[in-house]
Amino acid sequence: ANPLNKDTRGRPLRDLRISVTDRCNFRCTYCMPKEIFDKNYPYLSHDELLSFEEITRLTAIFASLGVEKIRLTGGEPLLRKNLEVLIEMLAKIKSATGQALDLTLTTNGSILRKKAVALKAAGLHRLTVSLDGLNDDIFKKMNDVDFPVTDVLDGIAAAQEAGFTNIKVNMVVKKGTNDQEIVAMAKHFKGTGVTLRFIEFMDVGSSNGWDMSQVLPSREVANRIHAVFPIEPIEANYPGEVAQRWRYVDGSGEIGFISSVTQTFCHECTRARISTDGQLYLCLFANTGFDFKTMLRAGKSDLEIANAVMMTWAGREDHYSEIRGSNTIDLKGIRKVEMSYIGG
Ligand code: GTP
Ligand code: 5AD
Ligand code: SF4
Ligand code: SF4
Repeated sequence: ANPLNKDTRGRPLRDLRISVTDRCNFRCTYCMPKEIFDKNYPYLSHDELLSFEEITRLTAIFASLGVEKIRLTGGEPLLRKNLEVLIEMLAKIKSATGQALDLTLTTNGSILRKKAVALKAAGLHRLTVSLDGLNDDIFKKMNDVDFPVTDVLDGIAAAQEAGFTNIKVNMVVKKGTNDQEIVAMAKHFKGTGVTLRFIEFMDVGSSNGWDMSQVLPSREVANRIHAVFPIEPIEANYPGEVAQRWRYVDGSGEIGFISSVTQTFCHECTRARISTDGQLYLCLFANTGFDFKTMLRAGKSDLEIANAVMMTWAGREDHYSEIRGSNTIDLKGIRKVEMSYIGG
């Protein structure tokens, strides 16, 4: 990897998260609330999106600078037409040390049954499916489009049948909305080889009505599980891993906690994000991006673009979750970009 790719806090650039569409067929209340993401919402038009060629070129440049992991997000990435073609293109890119990139995807699972085989054949390594409960009434209240639990579970089964191992399930926990599903979810996925991860509800974007009273700290989630199925912490897979890993004491697998509100992990955050229209964001909570689409379309060389990425990363100071926690700055009123556009 490139030793020069550190930001102002000494953090190297390792992961790139790419939003391939700002659209989604769900309206999760914590992400794309219906009142805002309605018929009149100004979604990007097709020519504003980065093309597959542009995404592939940028990815190769980031890989040359030390990026080892690529995650495709959205919106719902499987809504982007022919996504498997993009995956095939990305799967050919090598990291700076000559390894294949860790190529992965976060999906709501709704059309995974249709896509799983093609995704696997195209060279996708891993995938993560979002699911916020097993009870239909509760899940439907979260996705807000009446989408049933069984179809998501069937999508996960399809991915397993297609040969994906190492599947993860993300559950966003909102206190008072779906926290009664925690133990049922743990029980369901325990022993299946699927890693369930609990995410603290975050104040991303400017439209999800976040407040601290709806956050259930991971510590409490862990306590509730431990009371039924004893768990113990285990080592991270790599420095800066987002989720804290725990295992069931009886050996039936692991679970994870993503605690960006109560236990911040900015100090080792190695993630950059590319929005659907080619802006580089240095933090999930940033309110401005750096316009790489214009550079790509203005005929700049790979070297010029690589230099611009390095310069941008070298100036990175972002550590939003730590600031939110310490209360030193009043962040109310600052408009942040929506997660569906920047990519979770
Ligand atoms: P793997 O460990 O490689 O499987 O992936 P991951 O945990 O990076 O990816 P995933 O997309 O599953 O992210 C899980 C959750 O963590 C999502 O809700 C993300 O928005 C959140 N998350 C990921 N990266 C960051 C980050 O840098 N900051 C914050 N605050 N949240 C993050
Ligand atoms: N807080 C926490 N997680 C969120 N996600 C989307 N919005 C939020 C939020 N406000 C999650 C999705 C998905 C992942 C990429 O981000 O459920 O699993
Ligand atoms: Fe869609 Fe995922 Fe956002 Fe839900 S969290 S609205 S599934 S992008
Ligand atoms: Fe990284 Fe920003 Fe998340 Fe902190 S808040 S971990 S800097 S993306």
